[in-house]
Amino acid sequence: MKTIDELIAEGVTGKRVFVRADLNVPLSGTTITDDGRIRAVQPTVEKLVAAGARVVVASHLGRPKGAPDPAFSLAPAAARLGELIGADVAFATDTVGESARATVAGLGDGQVAVLENLRFNPAETSKDDAERGAFADQLAELADLYVGDGFGAVHRKHASVFDLPARLPHAAGDLIATEVGVLKKLTENVERPYAVVLGGSKVSDKLGVIDHLLERADRILIGGGMAYTFLKAQGHEVGSSLLQEDQIPAVLEYLKRAEDKGVEFVLPVDVVVSETFPDLKAKAPTEHRTVPADAMPAGFIGLDNGPETNKLYASKLADAATVFWNGPMGVFEHPDYAEGTRAVAQALVDSSGFSVVGGGDSAAAVRTLGFDENAFGHISTGGGASLEYLEGKTLPGLAALED
Ligand code: 3PG
Repeated sequence: MKTIDELIAEGVTGKRVFVRADLNVPLSGTTITDDGRIRAVQPTVEKLVAAGARVVVASHLGRPKGAPDPAFSLAPAAARLGELIGADVAFATDTVGESARATVAGLGDGQVAVLENLRFNPAETSKDDAERGAFADQLAELADLYVGDGFGAVHRKHASVFDLPARLPHAAGDLIATEVGVLKKLTENVERPYAVVLGGSKVSDKLGVIDHLLERADRILIGGGMAYTFLKAQGHEVGSSLLQEDQIPAVLEYLKRAEDKGVEFVLPVDVVVSETFPDLKAKAPTEHRTVPADAMPAGFIGLDNGPETNKLYASKLADAATVFWNGPMGVFEHPDYAEGTRAVAQALVDSSGFSVVGGGDSAAAVRTLGFDENAFGHISTGGGASLEYLEGKTLPGLAALED
């Protein structure tokens, strides 16, 4: 994989460099609630600016339906990038249309433009190679060189991630280089004990990684919405909690394999429940209580790990030499249900082991809860991407940068 420094050394002054970033940031209206992913690509943009390149930044945001939708505009992200780099950033109101062509043509050396959300064009995510290829051809007309730095999207076989680099001389940006370097530490000669904390809502999203980690990790701690499918599989009442009944056979098989292999599988021992899902906007105090995980009352929803679970999980992380964490432990967006997530974050801060926080949600959670990012070994910008990397899958956006 060519590095961005090697690309710059070959000469980028006056060249149009397409930077595929992941500016998929959480928004409340047009306000960015966590700009971590914009800050993560800032060094790459600044390096190219300093080298006199004409920088064309492109990304997806959210999952629009293949057509322009103002709710998913990248305009706020473009404005924030401008603030961060301390320079005007031009914004094209389309992806490969008149605005994009004029905006890129108007760039001077060392100037930056951001294109509108690539997913406003249905070809970006198309499963049809020819359709994606035709869009990649149009994108290629806007640039001379390509830098892949959208780590969060490298698991997507999308036009700008996979097809475009095949059409332009390309290199990996610093963010991708850093992310891959860290994930290698979790897959090659990992220091033990190796503990993995998995949360978030869906077990089905995590099956591949659990399967893989059962061969590699020493401890797997489960929390968040997905924990209730495990508790149900063990025969416990889970009330109206999130449940993926169809995953119960897979979950039972994992619990059995963990036992056979001596992998410690840790589930919540108590949970915080409520009769209703909290209002995440108003964040008003809710009626809630803590109950044992094996005695949840019918009709109640499990919304967070309880205090005994928090202590247990902290003890399982205290002596870990390596920790990977993906997925919040509860509905951390509401203060009544943030303790489980906070407790795991605090345990990682307190531990002297190497900790990796993987994923948009967990990364946003630690920042939202006020933790110092530097207290963690690494905060990954990619959720699905880091999970798929750990699963040992070939990631299209990395493979495309290889040759
Ligand atoms: C992410 O948020 O994980 C990345 O930006 C990829 O987004 P996607 O899951 O919508 O492809």
